[in-house]
Amino acid sequence: MDDRLMHIRESERKSHIETYTNEKLYHTNSWLKKPIKTVQDILPLFEGYRELQVLDLGCGVGRNSICVAEKYKKINCVVDCVDLLEIAIEKLLQNAREHEVSSNINGIIKSIEEYNIGINTYDFIMAISALEHIDTEESFFKKLTEIKKRTTREWNCMFCD
Ligand SMILES: C[S@@+](CC[C@H](N)C(=O)[O-])C[C@H]1O[C@@H](n2cnc3c(N)ncnc32)[C@H](O)[C@@H]1O
Repeated sequence: MDDRLMHIRESERKSHIETYTNEKLYHTNSWLKKPIKTVQDILPLFEGYRELQVLDLGCGVGRNSICVAEKYKKINCVVDCVDLLEIAIEKLLQNAREHEVSSNINGIIKSIEEYNIGINTYDFIMAISALEHIDTEESFFKKLTEIKKRTTREWNCMFCD
């Protein structure tokens, strides 16, 4: 990684830590205010499912994963949440407890690049404001291809073709 990119990544890291330390999920005027509209629009598509496996790459403190878990907690919905920041996963698990979805949320401290997406594991893969943080162009396209190939077949066509 060159010096310029290293400097950018360090600023992003500091800014994320500051936000996660000082702002409360869904009670702030920042980007943590509410889940993104695309996720809210997509969620009804899973009505009728008897179980739901979701992956949230670069999950932060759960802005999007908590609302998925809340909507589908009555079916066997599990959201695997991946972030490289310890504080993000710590706050994510705290938010999951507060929203009574602890049993639906798995917090995983790992980089997106290192997280191996299982074949046919996920019905829905989110990577919201996250893929742009990947280190290299090569890793970016590798992960994008992995997301496309590894999302269960039914949804693969809908979002990636
Ligand atoms: C702008 S935030 C978005 C968080 C969340 N997706 C949301 O929409 O609220 C980006 C998140 O990606 C995480 N992140 C950045 N680079 C990452 C990487 N290479 N692997 C895993 N997480 C990463 C950051 O720690 C941060 O929590």
